[in-house]
Amino acid sequence: MSYTVSVSHLQKHFTVNTKSPGLAASLKAIINPDKKIVKAVDDISFSLNQGELVGFIGPNGAGKTTTLKCLSGLLYPSSGEVKVLGHTPFSREYQFLRQIGFVMGQKNQLWWDIPPQETFLLHKAIYEISDADYKKCLDFFFETLDISDVVSTPTKKLSLGQRMKCEFVAALLHSPKVIFLDEPTIGLDVVATQKIRKFIKEYNQQFKSTIILTSHNMADVEQLCQRLIIIDNGQIYYDGALDNLAGQYRQTKQLKFTFDQAVKISDLKKYADVHKIDSYKYSFSLPKSQALQVAAKILSDFPVVDLNISDTPIEEIISQIYISNNDHRLGNK
Ligand SMILES: Nc1ncnc2c1ncn2[C@@H]1O[C@H](COP(=O)(O)OP(=O)(O)OP(=O)(O)O)[C@@H](O)[C@H]1O
Ligand SMILES: [Mg+2]
Repeated sequence: MSYTVSVSHLQKHFTVNTKSPGLAASLKAIINPDKKIVKAVDDISFSLNQGELVGFIGPNGAGKTTTLKCLSGLLYPSSGEVKVLGHTPFSREYQFLRQIGFVMGQKNQLWWDIPPQETFLLHKAIYEISDADYKKCLDFFFETLDISDVVSTPTKKLSLGQRMKCEFVAALLHSPKVIFLDEPTIGLDVVATQKIRKFIKEYNQQFKSTIILTSHNMADVEQLCQRLIIIDNGQIYYDGALDNLAGQYRQTKQLKFTFDQAVKISDLKKYADVHKIDSYKYSFSLPKSQALQVAAKILSDFPVVDLNISDTPIEEIISQIYISNNDHRLGNK
């Protein structure tokens, strides 16, 4: 069976000029600049089946956007092979472009001075969408994204949330089979974020499109993706089920205590690894097997007004992975 997306030993390196501070260095940089290679993507391989909705995450500068740009043909790889729906993305053939969609949370792709509905009509013409398909799609978008009131307002006058919803319509109007979503919820409030998440989920289920989603909001990934790919320093550190990853790391519990008077952190350190939230509130992280015993001990030793016991949140798990990758890279194992 052939994959919808297959990436084999993809590398994308950039050459950048570097310059030390000072006038002499500025003059030297004009004549003979120092160069440095940035390995934005450094030998990654993965493949996706049709209909998969995969979370592609990593810290700032990890190589996510560069990878998505290579997959959509916006960047030419330094080496390796990429196939999307059987096409080589960089060739940018019409048949390829007709089947992909790209939403970038940080970039405006709608025409700024005209209402979104005019951009939609333009896309209808470019992608040769039939009247019936156009109507069917718009009905779906208007209903799930609740945008009928805003599409006739010039884009520049829309709020970020309203604009992002319209960005989705413009990018997906031609029913692409593969969709790249690069931080689609960045800067959105909780209600708009929920709406976009619900939309992505429904769209994926209804149209069976293959979706790669990058986001720094771990709740996006947790609520939408069963599979997770973690990239850092241009390399893949994890590719597998989100549940497995959470299971591996969720051997610990978090205990949050609120005391009825200020407590010193030094008095709490003997119970478990502790983190101060404020003088009255502390969070403990400890092995699952010891959680109840330690909780009982603290309850008997201190005046507690509130206690919350929870699994380690996904943000915490991911941040532990980023930190340990970074330590490993710097040699501070
Ligand atoms: N055009 C370019 N020229 C030189 N270096 C670049 C270029 N584009 C990206 N880089 C570098 O490549 C690395 C990866 O960048 P990329 O934008 O792919 O990261 P990212 O994972 O998307 O990060 P973020 O979460 O901040 O969006 C960074 O070190 C970045 O500075
Ligand atoms: Mg990025």
